[in-house]
Amino acid sequence: MALSGGSTPRAMFELLATETGVPWSDIHFFWSDERHVPPDHPESNYRMANEALLSHVHTNVHRILSENPDAAAAASDYEQTIIQVTKQTLPRLDLIFLGLGTDGHTASIFPGSEVLHETKRLVAAPYVEKLQTYRITMTLPLLNNGASVVFLVSGAEKAEIVREVLEGETKYPAQAVKPTQGQLIWMLDQPAAARLTTLQTP
Ligand code: 6PG
Repeated sequence: MALSGGSTPRAMFELLATETGVPWSDIHFFWSDERHVPPDHPESNYRMANEALLSHVHTNVHRILSENPDAAAAASDYEQTIIQVTKQTLPRLDLIFLGLGTDGHTASIFPGSEVLHETKRLVAAPYVEKLQTYRITMTLPLLNNGASVVFLVSGAEKAEIVREVLEGETKYPAQAVKPTQGQLIWMLDQPAAARLTTLQTP
C-alpha cells in the first residue's frame, strides 16, 4: 500500500496504530509522494507516518530515499524498489492513499506539471515552481494501476476544491486519477463534503 503525505492522514495513522489483529508483517508500505528532505526533517512524509504509525508496528517499510540531493536519482531508485518488492514491471498496489491540495494537486502532481503527461516512468521528480523545491511522486501510470485508490480529504477549506474536482470541469490533476481496473473511493468528512450537490452516501 502507498501512504499519502501532508497533514490529513496523521489522525488515521494514529488510529491504525491502536488496531489489533492487523497482519502488519504482510503489509509493504510505500509513499505516493515525498518532499525532497531527509527522513528526520519536520516536512518529511516518512517522518510523520513513522511517528504516527510505523514505529509502533512490525511491518515492511519502503521509504523514498529523499535525502539524496539528486531528486531524479531518488525517483528512479524508488521505481526500482517498487518493482523489486512487488516483482511486477507495472506494479499493481492493493491500496493507494492520496490527498487533495486546495489547488487540485494530488500526490506531488501539481497543476501545469509536466508529470501530468508522464506515460512511462512510475516515479518522477518534478520541480514545483510555487514551492521552489523538487518533489518525488508516483506518476499516473502507477497510481491508475492501483486496485483501490482512496482520496482522504478533510476540512472546510477543501470543500470548494472537492466540489470542483468531483462536480466541476476537468482541469485539476486529481481528476486524472482514474484507476483503469480498480476502484476509486473518496473518504470525506462532513466539512469537506459540504458543497457537494450530488452526494450519495454509502
Ligand atoms: C504532500 C502530499 C500532498 C497532500 C496534499 C494535502 O506531500 O504534501 O502528499 O499531496 O496530500 O497537499 O495535504 P494536507 O493533508 O496537508 O491538506
